[in-house]
Amino acid sequence: MKMKKLYIETFGCQMNIADSEVVASILKDENYELTINPDEADLYLFNTCAVRENAEKRIWNKLQHFKGIKRKNRNLKLGVIGCMAQHIGNDFKQTGVVDFIAGPDAYRNIPNLLKSIDESGFQADTELSLTETYEAILPTRINNAKISGFVSITRGCNNFCSYCIVPYTRGRERSRKVSDIMNEVQDLQENGYREITLLGQNVNSYNYTTSTESIDFPKLLALTATRFPDLRIRFTTSHPKDISDELIECIANHDNICNHIHLPIQSGSNEVLKRMNRKYTLEWYLDRIQKIRELIPDCGITTDIFAGFCGEMEADHQQSLDVMKQVGFDAAFMFKYSEREGTYAAKHLDDDVPEAIKIRRLNELITLQNQLSLESNQRDVGKSFRILIEGKSKRSETEIFGRTCQNKVVIIPDTGEKIGDFVPVTVNDYTSATLFGTKIS
Ligand code: 5AD
Ligand code: SF4
Repeated sequence: MKMKKLYIETFGCQMNIADSEVVASILKDENYELTINPDEADLYLFNTCAVRENAEKRIWNKLQHFKGIKRKNRNLKLGVIGCMAQHIGNDFKQTGVVDFIAGPDAYRNIPNLLKSIDESGFQADTELSLTETYEAILPTRINNAKISGFVSITRGCNNFCSYCIVPYTRGRERSRKVSDIMNEVQDLQENGYREITLLGQNVNSYNYTTSTESIDFPKLLALTATRFPDLRIRFTTSHPKDISDELIECIANHDNICNHIHLPIQSGSNEVLKRMNRKYTLEWYLDRIQKIRELIPDCGITTDIFAGFCGEMEADHQQSLDVMKQVGFDAAFMFKYSEREGTYAAKHLDDDVPEAIKIRRLNELITLQNQLSLESNQRDVGKSFRILIEGKSKRSETEIFGRTCQNKVVIIPDTGEKIGDFVPVTVNDYTSATLFGTKIS
């Protein structure tokens, strides 16, 4: 029987990349194989994000083009899956081009939805689940040439930060079975992967309990590192409220766990943090940073921070700038607040910072972080790192690039190393975005 072609375009976080691979696996059993050519697709999926309005705007724009595409290819089916499907729901029917939607817990039902389209038209499943962890589904890797892969360890989120849509689109937090996680890591290793990232909205609250044992995140991390000594292991995202000494010690004690912690601070003002329902104070955050620096002196520390949350005053914004300087983040994802319908903030707090001020404050965060990244990179000159080669440099045919365990990109001259090699390098130059180095022979 001829295989049908599946094309998946993934937006948003790394979690979505992992989910697209779960969906590809479910559809493989339905006779769909992945294609990298959208023009030959029988089924086109958008795996979407709802975290900010801009993410959703991109999808609405893309859907505009689909009227023409479907006119040319009348058999093409289009599905919108993921967080935006969950958030927008049946309104996608009005577009006239979307054949079905499936939320993050409804992926096992996609084959049934597909079967019903021809008879009954638009299909939707946005049921959230308390138990779905996609147990026993071995994800189909979307880019087989890759050497770095994702393994989700939890689904959903229980934190309810007041600005955030995730608890509504991804539902309650569930931890995946240890054996499923280990099988996935094993599968990646057997397929030539050299690095894996354990994923969750809040990895620190991982907990898998059976009648005989209870595995928390430091235990899972240590288990993965010990069982797979040849893999480099990363994890994201950590919530500052839950980052324990035990976790920091675990990273310090295992050579193959990367010295990099992504620790979203969101704001430097205690009052704003309280309105965000972040459940930690600036002092607690700084105490965690101090502990990390004490136990892992060369740890890369990166963050998420956003400007213009409800009630943010100039003095609050200044505190965000101050804490960025104080910590000296190596890199940061920076945003301006985007109100999300259904969240606590949308219901109860006033989105009162004018757009022009949000933009100005965001630009100040970005300008400062560029300077901090430049300084961080400058500190690396003369130091040696082991980088994992990821590919050819974009700016030159004669150069390749890899990543340090702190998650920084280093460009080196191409002397025949292969993608997936670990190469020792010394850094000799830098910009705010990149390090330049040479191989140590
Ligand atoms: N507006 C702006 N940024 C947001 N984030 C989450 N929700 C919002 C929102 N409503 C940011 C946070 C989070 C990252 C994934 O996106 O910084 O850590
Ligand atoms: Fe990922 Fe959050 Fe975007 Fe959903 S809303 S795709 S969980 S970043």
